[in-house]
Amino acid sequence: MLTRDVEITAKHVQHLLLSKHVQYLQKYAVVSNESYEQLMVEYLRMSGIYWTTTALQLMDSDFDSAGRQDILSMIKTCVHPNGGISAAKGHDPHLLYTMSAIQILVSYDALNDNIIDIDKTVSYIVSLQKTDGSFMGDSWGEVDVRFSFCAIASAALLNRLNAIDLDKAIDFVMQCNNTIDGGFGSRPGSESHAGLIYCSLGCLSIAGELHRIDADLLGWWLAERQLPSGGLNGRPEKLPDLCYSWWVLSSMAIIGRLHWIDKHKLLRFILATQDDETGGFSDRPGNMVDPFHTVFGLAGLSLLSHKYSCEPIEALSENSDTNSDSDLRAQWKVISDKIKPINPVFCMTQSVIDKTNIKLQYLSL
Ligand code: FPP
Ligand code: ZN
Repeated sequence: MLTRDVEITAKHVQHLLLSKHVQYLQKYAVVSNESYEQLMVEYLRMSGIYWTTTALQLMDSDFDSAGRQDILSMIKTCVHPNGGISAAKGHDPHLLYTMSAIQILVSYDALNDNIIDIDKTVSYIVSLQKTDGSFMGDSWGEVDVRFSFCAIASAALLNRLNAIDLDKAIDFVMQCNNTIDGGFGSRPGSESHAGLIYCSLGCLSIAGELHRIDADLLGWWLAERQLPSGGLNGRPEKLPDLCYSWWVLSSMAIIGRLHWIDKHKLLRFILATQDDETGGFSDRPGNMVDPFHTVFGLAGLSLLSHKYSCEPIEALSENSDTNSDSDLRAQWKVISDKIKPINPVFCMTQSVIDKTNIKLQYLSL
């Protein structure tokens, strides 16, 4: 069978373009001059700000206090009387944007700055849980395990995990587990998908219930996502896509099997998705860059270069040093020096999560 893949050649970018990425993301920064309005489609704006600020925080280049204040004021305009938060002013609230707003507030240490009413936000989250433990994304009623993750992760970040029925929520997540490949789909009986595996493992990690999965079977399926180009896809027969460097790798990190992929090949793929003129990362080499793929490219590099990696830089032989080995070693050094550690469950800098009381479970081999 023909593998659907792309080719990485010597013409593609081979070094991390850190300062270009900072410049690219700063374009999205100034809420007051309407950059966000121009550059980020309205229905995604709150998540867009989360992607942008997280990417900048990973590179230690977040906005100054004026930019931070603009973002906090923008969040305030999106808070609804029922406690839910919308993507932009005038839109309906949804769990996806409620979670993004909470992530931004936690990263800015602004949960208690009167932007949101925590009790109301918690009751909004609670109101979306159904009797089978699942969560709806909003009052329109769509159920998906990604909304379980948004609800559980948001409640954990608000330090109010006990407000939801966590046992039932986890029972629903486990109903989405496919015993044939160890993965998870969006609902019971749905096909396994790396994005939804990340969401499900995030729920189980927060709840301390990771013992309920078959980690070897799932780890094998996740490792199979790596294609000859080094890039990762989200399901069999799909093209590689940079954002799966997050959905797949974070899942492998949570279950202690990150070293089951070839990190050097993946590094080449990730570096090739950078745009050397504009900065930013795209889904595949040569495509248009966007903040979504930019944060997940940087987050993937962070997972590969910090403590979750089981094959450290030294694994490249010091003795028979070829030029390409020493160049690769230099690349890994730049990456681990310049990109901060990321938390694999919350996709926020580890230093922010360390300041919370949240206890996460991880598996090891
Ligand atoms: C791929 O979607 C990704 C997912 C299904 C996971 C989405 C996860 C969330 C919304 C939770 C919040 C995330 C973070 C990082 C805090 P897709 O629709 O692009 O899938 P496709 O590649 O199959 O089209
Ligand atoms: Zn993608």
